[in-house]
Amino acid sequence: MGQFSNAKKLLKDINAIQSPQDLLETFADMEQDMALYESGIQEVRTKLEILQRDARFGAGHNPIESIKSRIKKPMSIIEKMHRKGYPISLESMRANLNDVAGIRVICPFIEDIYTVVEMLSRQDDLTVIEKKDYIQNPKPNGYRSYHMILEVPVFLSDRKQPVRVEVQLRTIAMDFWASLEHQIHYKASREVPDCVVDELKECADIIAHTDERMQSLSKQIRCIRDTHEK
Ligand code: GTP
Ligand code: MG
Repeated sequence: MGQFSNAKKLLKDINAIQSPQDLLETFADMEQDMALYESGIQEVRTKLEILQRDARFGAGHNPIESIKSRIKKPMSIIEKMHRKGYPISLESMRANLNDVAGIRVICPFIEDIYTVVEMLSRQDDLTVIEKKDYIQNPKPNGYRSYHMILEVPVFLSDRKQPVRVEVQLRTIAMDFWASLEHQIHYKASREVPDCVVDELKECADIIAHTDERMQSLSKQIRCIRDTHEK
């Protein structure tokens, strides 16, 4: 019910769509755009899967535990443009939203995140548009992850189209926290009370500490193995 009344309010703002003809054209363009974003995800995913496969042949371990991806739903696209005060149109989506195509890379250890960031940054057909390190600089609520906006060329029958993809990199532990924190906020019908916010922050800090200990244990084990191998 809430969602529908919200949709109605948003649709009032979409004054660019004036006739059924316009509407059909907009849907056709939207489908084409979504196909492009899907291709962008496919390109970056393939790069990550190649890195995963290649790790089997190196001396180190696999820095990628798993990869997830998603395309932003039309309603969320409209809601975000509305919230940020951007015009509601496909042109505006292309120009203003960098996270229509999203990939989440889950890594075992903190250092693996920086390894994958480096590996992606070195690929010369990828353009790094933005990097945000919420691991070195966690958000006030305790959120930790590394965010990258990448631009990848998608080769179509008649042109080369650059497509933006948001890549979020985090450890298994950071992902555990972010998923549950998101659920708690989503499920709460009103603003989450301060005591819950404080406890979530405390959980994030405990998790960050555990991540550091796991990283240290992994280093110790590697050290022992290397000494034995000599
Ligand atoms: P938006 O893209 O409008 O959100 O603004 P921004 O680009 O400044 O956002 P940012 O790069 O900080 O975060 C974008 C995405 O990261 C969100 O859509 C979420 O997926 C994730 N994220 C950021 N902050 C939080 C948080 O506090 N909790 C959780 N669970 N996820 C977050
Ligand atoms: Mg963003």
